[in-house]
Amino acid sequence: MNKIGYIQFQPILGNLDANIKKIQALFPLGEKADLIVLPELASSGYNFATRDEALKCAEEITKSKFVEFIIASAKKQNQYIVAGMNEKDGDTLFNTGILVGPQGFIGKYQKIHLFLNEKDIFKPGEAGLPVFDIGFCKTSILICFDYIFPEVWRIVGMKGADIVCHASNLITTNAQKCIPAQAFMNKLFIVTANRYGTEGDITFGGNSFITNPDAQIIDQAVSDKDAVSVVDIDISEARNKFVTSRNHVFIDRIPSNYKDLI
Ligand code: ACM
Repeated sequence: MNKIGYIQFQPILGNLDANIKKIQALFPLGEKADLIVLPELASSGYNFATRDEALKCAEEITKSKFVEFIIASAKKQNQYIVAGMNEKDGDTLFNTGILVGPQGFIGKYQKIHLFLNEKDIFKPGEAGLPVFDIGFCKTSILICFDYIFPEVWRIVGMKGADIVCHASNLITTNAQKCIPAQAFMNKLFIVTANRYGTEGDITFGGNSFITNPDAQIIDQAVSDKDAVSVVDIDISEARNKFVTSRNHVFIDRIPSNYKDLI
């Protein structure tokens, strides 16, 4: 058995130090997790009025106080952590998810499908859809609105992801309807770590949740409070890709019929 979980909290817009403090207070509650997931843009908050406002609290990964803090926490708690951050790369901003472990920084994913005003602030991701081998499992990162696109789930599933870390700032509960289907169709675990609270005209929905490869939501948080949850999983459930004795979700694909997708 392994343990995976999420930390749900309410970041403060533009206040990196306050966000580190909030996360620091919650981390010990998730110390038993082998892999724990934080929301999208956990370093900075979400609803920037302008790109300049976002730029002011963005950080380069190699010089980032936030990344250093997450690495220090992963070492202290001997666990893997995925966290959303506001990444600066030269003059470009990305809505990024980092993966770190006891050994330090492992890799990143940059959000591909930007939602509403994010299109004025961030560039669509250029880091592809990596899958990382962290020993007890293979894992990948998706960010919030990415969930609408079945292609990305299929790609990370076919690259071997057992667990998808879905760092989110969700507004509606549509993800709760769609994500169990993706978990089932690709036979993997999904940890959706959402934030809660209001920033300007946007209220975020909390309700972070964990879905198993059988499409069951096995854990769900409340909508409007800090929440840390850790659940036991059997990773072998994500390695059986058969839905019947003669049907395998990847092997049964017939890509020659899918050319219209490209
Ligand atoms: C979203 O992609 N933050 C809704």
